[in-house]
Amino acid sequence: MKNLPLLFLAILTFRCLNPVSAACHVDDEAGLLAFKSAITADPSNKLSSWIKGTDCCTWAGTNCLNNRVTSLSLSGQPDNPSTYLSGKISPSLSKLKFLNGIYLQNLNLSGPFPDLLFGLPDLKYVYIEHNKLSGRIPNTIGNLTQLEALSFYYNRFTGPIPSSISKLTRLTQLNLGGNILTGSIPSGIQNLKNLTLFNLEQNGLSGPIPDFFTSFPELRVLRLSGNYFTGKIPASISALAPKLAYLELGHNALTGQIPDFLGNFKALDTLNLASNKLSGVVPQKFANLTKIFNLDLSRNYLTDPFPELNVRGIESLDLSYNSFHLKQIPKWVTSSPIIYSLKLAKCGIKLKLDDWKPAETYFYDYIDLSENEISGSPVGLLNRTDFLVGFWASGNKLKFDLEKLRIVKTLKYLDLSRNLVFGKVPSGVSGLERLNVSHNHLCGPLPATKFGASAFLGNDCLCGAPLDLCK
Ligand SMILES: *[C@@H]1O[C@H](CO)[C@@H](O)[C@H](O)[C@H]1NC(C)=O
Ligand SMILES: *[C@@H]1O[C@H](CO)[C@@H](O)[C@H](O)[C@H]1NC(C)=O
Ligand SMILES: *[C@@H]1O[C@H](CO)[C@@H](O)[C@H](O)[C@H]1NC(C)=O
Ligand SMILES: *[C@@H]1O[C@H](CO)[C@@H](O)[C@H](O)[C@H]1NC(C)=O
Ligand SMILES: *[C@@H]1O[C@H](CO)[C@@H](O)[C@H](O)[C@H]1NC(C)=O
Ligand SMILES: *[C@@H]1O[C@H](CO)[C@@H](O)[C@H](O)[C@H]1NC(C)=O
Repeated sequence: MKNLPLLFLAILTFRCLNPVSAACHVDDEAGLLAFKSAITADPSNKLSSWIKGTDCCTWAGTNCLNNRVTSLSLSGQPDNPSTYLSGKISPSLSKLKFLNGIYLQNLNLSGPFPDLLFGLPDLKYVYIEHNKLSGRIPNTIGNLTQLEALSFYYNRFTGPIPSSISKLTRLTQLNLGGNILTGSIPSGIQNLKNLTLFNLEQNGLSGPIPDFFTSFPELRVLRLSGNYFTGKIPASISALAPKLAYLELGHNALTGQIPDFLGNFKALDTLNLASNKLSGVVPQKFANLTKIFNLDLSRNYLTDPFPELNVRGIESLDLSYNSFHLKQIPKWVTSSPIIYSLKLAKCGIKLKLDDWKPAETYFYDYIDLSENEISGSPVGLLNRTDFLVGFWASGNKLKFDLEKLRIVKTLKYLDLSRNLVFGKVPSGVSGLERLNVSHNHLCGPLPATKFGASAFLGNDCLCGAPLDLCK
């Protein structure tokens, strides 16, 4: 113990004499401590290493170059409030003059647009995602011309996208998805010629999607789902054919046909046009989308014939609620070695389910075959889908003993309503999150479950809570 002061002296001397010591700059320390003091709750003690007088380059979340903090990255776990940081982002963070990147993800930071960004000349990367920043995005955002990536994904920004955003010409990523933005897409965004990712999904944006896509030769990800966009899919999107991998325009109010040119998108991995008002046939050229893994065209007004796709393996497919009469589950679906989600509700499928033998069932999470003309039994199928999470097959002609159905541990959703299912309701259903076996031919006492009467109504002789007492 008595050696301790000596050790201290030795460390101090070492620090003072060594010009490349790791002690961080006083401004950086002050800025970070101010950031910490604006945090009102830190239940997981993320900032416990942030102690005045210690080297701030060793603090959790900091990175330094030549004793200057160049990046700050702190993140919580999604949906786990005990890992959040609450409070505001202190403007004193602008003391960190060499900051090049700010990464604050899955926290609970609130307050307006962080004006401190204006004071940081080297700042290139801003990812403040899954927080609660609110108010308008100021028009002065156009001053941040050095930015290469800007993401405010999932915050609570309101009002329009400022037109000055067109001045951020170095941006390669612009992600304002998951806010409450309104108005239309500013046409000046066409100046952002280096964009590889452009995401405005899940906002309240409206008007037509601008026909300006010849301006983005590098674009790989285009996400505009979940807004109120109207009009046709713009023709200039065809210019993105060589590189675009993600095209997501679902949950809008788009009209017209699916353009033929989408069949030329050689790199397309994911196409989501669901829940629009698209009509006509799906272009036969879709046969050439050999790399597509995720295809969602559900809830439109699309008609037959649906093209035969030349894919090695589809991962997820949703064609539900159009005007298709597929008759069978397509061969390229049945043969897929990697499929995890198949949704073909109301697709005019006539099939005895026992005869459907998918090549690989290991990855299946979701199967929705509701509102078709499917007979037979799902017992064999569900015996092979070990990790199934949801099975929906209401409005078919399935006829089997419910007690024989294997209910795997992962299963959460089971809808067999309006079929010809018989037998008793097994107690294994009590662990599900949602169940519907109404309008079948079930009989006998119900096991104890949390489900209401409408899950069981319209059977032959079910009894016990929530239905009438058994006699
Ligand atoms: C998030 O922050 C707000 C305001 O600072 C606070 O009232 C709320 O309790 C926080 N929520 C969680 C889950 O930490
Ligand atoms: C933005 O730039 C303008 C002109 O260059 C300048 O007058 C203004 O003060 C800047 N605004 C901010 C918030 O930095
Ligand atoms: C766009 O990217 C190219 C190639 O990386 C680069 O040379 C150019 O300076 C960038 N444009 C802007 C405005 O930053
Ligand atoms: C698919 O691509 C090939 C070669 O790129 C082309 O010859 C063929 O016409 C295309 N098929 C359709 C239906 O467009
Ligand atoms: C379910 O699977 C088990 C083991 O793989 C097998 O023994 C059984 O016969 C199967 N039952 C049905 C109804 O397919
Ligand atoms: C069960 O299905 C029936 C008929 O399809 C429907 O009317 C009812 O609302 C559903 N109940 C639940 C709890 O989902």
